[in-house]
Amino acid sequence: MSVDFKGLRVVSFESRKAPEMAELIRAAGGTPVMAPSMREIPLEQNSEALTFAKLLLAGWIDVLILTTGVGTRLLVKSVSTKYDTQGFVEALNKIKIAALGPKSVAALGEMNIAPTILVPTPYTLSDLLAAFDEQCPVDNKRVAVQEYGQSSPDLFQALEDRGAQTLPVPVYRWGLPEDLGPLRRAIQDIIGGDYGRADFALFTSATQVHHVFQVAKMDGLDGKLREAFKDICIGSVGPVASRAISEEGLTVDYEPDMPKMAHLVREMARRGGYLLDKKRTAFANGVDTNQWRRIDMVWQPTTDGHPTIKDSVFMKACRREKTPYTPVWIMRQAGRYQREYLRIRKKVSMLGLCKTPELAAEVTLMAVDRLGVDAAIIFADILLVTEPMGLHLEFVKGEGPVIYNPVREGRDVDRLNEPDVNELSYVFDALKLTRRALRPDIALIGFAGAPFTIASYMIEGGKSDHYAKTKTMMYRDQATWHALMERLTKVLIDYLNGQIAAGADAVQLFDSWVGSLSPDDYRQFVMPHVRALIRGIDQSTPVIHFSTGNPALLPLMKEAGGDVIGLDWRSDLAVAWSILGDDVAVMGNMDPMVLYSSPSEIRAHVQAILDKAAGRPGHIFNLGHGVLPDMPPEHVAELVDAVHELSARS
Ligand code: CP3
Repeated sequence: MSVDFKGLRVVSFESRKAPEMAELIRAAGGTPVMAPSMREIPLEQNSEALTFAKLLLAGWIDVLILTTGVGTRLLVKSVSTKYDTQGFVEALNKIKIAALGPKSVAALGEMNIAPTILVPTPYTLSDLLAAFDEQCPVDNKRVAVQEYGQSSPDLFQALEDRGAQTLPVPVYRWGLPEDLGPLRRAIQDIIGGDYGRADFALFTSATQVHHVFQVAKMDGLDGKLREAFKDICIGSVGPVASRAISEEGLTVDYEPDMPKMAHLVREMARRGGYLLDKKRTAFANGVDTNQWRRIDMVWQPTTDGHPTIKDSVFMKACRREKTPYTPVWIMRQAGRYQREYLRIRKKVSMLGLCKTPELAAEVTLMAVDRLGVDAAIIFADILLVTEPMGLHLEFVKGEGPVIYNPVREGRDVDRLNEPDVNELSYVFDALKLTRRALRPDIALIGFAGAPFTIASYMIEGGKSDHYAKTKTMMYRDQATWHALMERLTKVLIDYLNGQIAAGADAVQLFDSWVGSLSPDDYRQFVMPHVRALIRGIDQSTPVIHFSTGNPALLPLMKEAGGDVIGLDWRSDLAVAWSILGDDVAVMGNMDPMVLYSSPSEIRAHVQAILDKAAGRPGHIFNLGHGVLPDMPPEHVAELVDAVHELSARS
C-alpha cells in the first residue's frame, strides 16, 4: 500500500533520462531493467529531407503533402542545415501544398505559407482524394509526401492509381539505439527468457512503444512479445504513449493523472502490486488481458483460503470488529478530479454515464484501482430516483442538478408516480457488473439519498441556500410534507433492497442537507420516516447513516437507525463518538479542504483523527463530502496511503 515495488523487476525504455529513471525506480523499491530504445538523430542526417530539398530547388516537385506539424518543422530544420531557408521557402511558394490537419497548417503558417489545396478537417482519405481531384488533379504530377512516424501506404497507392509519381519524405527525430543489446535483453525479460522475468514495463513515450515492437519484429518475436504482455503490468506516462500502446493491441494498466515520469513511477509503485496480482490472476483465469476492460476481471472462484467479503476490513469495521488498519473510502472517489473520468465524461453526459451500466461499473472500479480504497461506491446519484417518480432531472454543467418540474404543493405530490424501482435497473446492472469484477474482499457500497435531502431537491428544483421552499411546505402544509416523505420512504426501501439484491454489501443513506434543521424539527419532520426506511432495509446489510452540518442531530440520527453514523469535520470525532456510544460504528471525518494542502499536512490531519478514534473498533475513515474537481489527485492517493500506514502502526 505504500510506495514500494518490493524488489520487483521494472523495465523502462527511457533513453535520454535513463539514469534519472533508474534512480526513481530504485528509490521506489524496484529493480530497474533499463533498455534505452531511442537515439536522437542529428538534423543533418535526415537524408530524405535533404534529397527532397534538392529536387524541390531543381524544380522537380509539383505537389507537397504535409501530414504532421512536428514532421513539417523537422523537415524545415533539417533542410536548413544545408540549404538557405529563404530559397527553400520561395521554392515551396511555387508549388501546390496540402497540409493535413490544423497542426500541419500551423507549421506551414510559421513560414508564412498558406496551403494551396484546401482539405476539410477532420479529413478521411476519400476527403483528401476528392479535394485533390477537384483542386489539383495529380495525373502525371510529382507528389512528395512528408511522413513522420507512421507511413500511409493507402495514400501512396491512391495517388499512384491516379497517375502520380510519388516521393516519400520521411523525417526522423528518433532512431533505434546503436547498441540494441539492452533492448533485446529487455524483450527477452518480458517474454521470460534467460534473463529473468519482468513484472512491470514502463513506457515514457510513444516512440518507445514503436521501437520495442520494431526490434521484436526484426527478431521475429513481436507475436511472442504481445502475448507475453498479458501478465506484465504496463504503465504509460500519458495519453500519447497510451494511444501507441493500444495501437499495438495492448491495454494500459496504469496512467498517472499528471503526465510526468516521477508520477508514473511513484504511482505504479503504490498500486503496482495490486495491479500485477489483478492482471496475473485474470490471465490465469483465461481473461484476454491484452484487450480488456475493468469489468472483464475474473477473480479466483472463491475457494478455501482465498479472500472473500468476510475478510473485508471495511465490513469488519461496519460490524465494529477489530481490523488490522482503519478502512478508508472517499465520497466522489470517481470524479472530475481524475483525467480518466474526464475522458469518459467527454463522450457521455452525467446521466448517460449513470445509465450505461458498463461505464458506471468501469468508473466505480477505476477509483479502486487508482486509489487502493477499501470500498467501492457505485457510480450513480441520489437524484436518479426522482426520474421514475415523474420529475424531469438534468445535470447542468456548472450548476449541478436541476429539476424542471419541482414539487410545490399537495397536487404535485399526488401527481407523483408510484414507480416500479426496476426502472432503475441500470443501477442494479452496474452493481452486478461491479461486484463480479471487484476483488472479493473489497466492499461494494450502494446508496440512496435520505428522504429530506431528496425532498429538498424535488421542492427547490435545484441547489438552495436556505431551503425556504422546502421548509415552507414542511411548516405550512404538514400533511403534504409527510405524504411526500412517505412516498419517498417507500420507493427508497425498494430501491435499496434492489441494490442489495444486485450485490451491494453495505448501503449508505445520504442526508446531506438535513443539517439545516433544528433537533426538534428533525424529530418531528424527518426521524419517523428515516426510522421506517432503515427498518425496511434488509437487516443483514450494514447501513451507513450520513449527514453534514449539524452535530446536534447526531444522537437523533442514531435513534433513527444505522450501523454506522457518518459525520463531517464540524464534529469532534472523540466527543461525537462518546455521545453516540460504543454500540455504533463511526465514519469520518476530515475536512476535504485539507486535500488542497500538502502530503505532510494531510498526514498530520489523518493522525489527529486517528488519535480521536483511539483505536476503537468500528472506525471508517472518510471526508465530510466529495472530492472537488480541482483537488490534486495525488493528494487523494496520499490520503488513502496515510490512513492505511498510520493506522497500521498505532
Ligand atoms: O463516488 C461517489 O461518491 C458515488 C457517486 C455519487 C455521486 N453523487 C456522483 C456525482 C454520490 C454518492 C452522489 C451523492 C449525491 N448527489 C449527494 C450526496 C452527497 C453529497 O455530495 O453531499 C448529493 C447532494 C447529490 C446531488 C448532486 N449530484 C449534486 C449537488 C451534484 C453537482 C455537484 C457537482 O460536483 O457538480 C451532482 C452531480 C454529481 N454526482 C457528480 C458526480 C460524480 C458530478 C458529475 C459530473 O459532472 O461528472
